Amino acid sequence: MKLPKIVILDEKDKRLHERSKEVTFPLSNEDKKMIQDMILYLTMSQIESEREKYDLRAGMGLSACQIGVMKRIFVIVEEVEEEKFKNYIVINPKILSYSEEEIFVGEGEGCLSVNREVLGIVPRKARITVEAYDMDGKKYQIRVREDISIAFQHEIDHLNGILFVDKIDPKNPFKNQEKMREI
Ligand code: NI
Repeated sequence: MKLPKIVILDEKDKRLHERSKEVTFPLSNEDKKMIQDMILYLTMSQIESEREKYDLRAGMGLSACQIGVMKRIFVIVEEVEEEKFKNYIVINPKILSYSEEEIFVGEGEGCLSVNREVLGIVPRKARITVEAYDMDGKKYQIRVREDISIAFQHEIDHLNGILFVDKIDPKNPFKNQEKMREI
């Protein structure tokens, strides 16, 4: 596999703190290529041999703003079984509903734009229903749960200029932990 030329912005870049804009359809060929590149990049980051070859950090989600494109687009690559991947392409997402139950990643969330250790947990909804558009501009609904629900919420935050570290209170990084379920 050939690693796509993608430069991921660091959290210090101000674009990561700005709101991305709604996408209009049809997508340009440039945007379609970008989406394919983002998926390939994440896929390769989850394959050990490729990750080592290119010195990558493993990641499951990436938003367009993280590569400097301020459009409401993100992708998620889920390894469903050994080196078998499921892709989610999410454009102009809207959260329609969410569960009462909250969960958090016990070892802490990660982000390809945050290149430091961050102590603390982020409350996330255990399940959400999202309305979004695919690459062809077709509207769809999806219900996601557990780690994929967290990934969706993490990426939707990116589209609004919010990083997971912004949601951790440094004075009380494990606030309300007892009210949530660890995954
Ligand atoms: Ni991120």
